[in-house]
Amino acid sequence: MSDASKAGTFQIGDRTVNRMGYGAMQLAGPGVFGPPKDPKAALAVLREALALGVNHIDTSDFYGPHVTNQLIREALHPYADDLTIVTKVGAKRGDDASWNPAQSPAELVQAVHDNLRNLGLEVLDVVNFRAWGNMHAPDEASIAEQFTALAELQQQGLIRHLGLSNVSAVQVKEAQAIAQVVCVQNHYNLSHRDDEQLIAQLSEQGIAYVPFFPLGGFTPLQSDVLASVTQRLQASQLNVALAWLLQRSPNILLIPGTSSVAHLRENLTASELKIAPELLAELDAVA
Ligand SMILES: NC(=O)c1ccc[n+]([C@@H]2O[C@H](COP(=O)([O-])OP(=O)(O)OC[C@H]3O[C@@H](n4cnc5c(N)ncnc54)[C@H](OP(=O)(O)O)[C@@H]3O)[C@@H](O)[C@H]2O)c1
Repeated sequence: MSDASKAGTFQIGDRTVNRMGYGAMQLAGPGVFGPPKDPKAALAVLREALALGVNHIDTSDFYGPHVTNQLIREALHPYADDLTIVTKVGAKRGDDASWNPAQSPAELVQAVHDNLRNLGLEVLDVVNFRAWGNMHAPDEASIAEQFTALAELQQQGLIRHLGLSNVSAVQVKEAQAIAQVVCVQNHYNLSHRDDEQLIAQLSEQGIAYVPFFPLGGFTPLQSDVLASVTQRLQASQLNVALAWLLQRSPNILLIPGTSSVAHLRENLTASELKIAPELLAELDAVA
């Protein structure tokens, strides 16, 4: 049986996590809105993730909204000491399932309290400020006001560590002048490589880089090179895409999302998949 620990560990602040983690977004209903079709199946995914060594779960109170956090609480509370739950704030959902910015200091404070309540915690391990940007890509707007508001909540003891999501290198620097940044969560995968330089810069500083949409998100990754390499490795395409990320840089942590126990188990086997240098070079050339 594969185990998330086989890909090694990395630090998120003072928390040690397995590099292979789990992203909980897919546990909410269709369109990340409302309850899942089969709540028991969703709870089973979370419990199986922990049974297979996952100790880093990514979530947000705006998934559902509230749904994934409430599922995490129902499945896993009281939480294991070594479990790190990373959440994010900065968006809210409309009644029509739309995604909308919620970036004022008052909305961020409210979001932190919503996460605490729905996860059943007194302190959040890690909170990412999710900049709005251009939906899934950063812009260069200042994030100082928002990050300062979260740093104040950290000083009050409600948050252990702060991270960022959907940000540029300039925004990372701006935030670092306000408080320590322990992780960055941006859009990155085999065919979406805007962050090559940022990943290297963060690696030099010992900061985790956590790609969202590691499997392509709502549009599964597809590439002839990926198909060809996969055939030679006798693996699945998505596993090769995950293993490529693990070998890309030691500070990359994975949070592939799934609502299925079978897919979860399959994804975790990527922890053990080693891609030889000549095949890695072919994959590197995809983007
Ligand atoms: N910061 C941000 O702005 C942001 C944005 C998006 C996501 N995220 C975080 O990143 C995590 C990962 O992103 P994601 O879940 O959107 O995208 P993803 O991990 O790239 O892909 C998830 C999709 O792949 C499918 N899938 C997973 N494993 C599979 C397998 N073995 N075989 C076939 N299909 C498979 C899932 O469907 P099934 O459910 O059917 O397996 C789902 O449709 C999320 O859970 C969330 O925590 C953050």
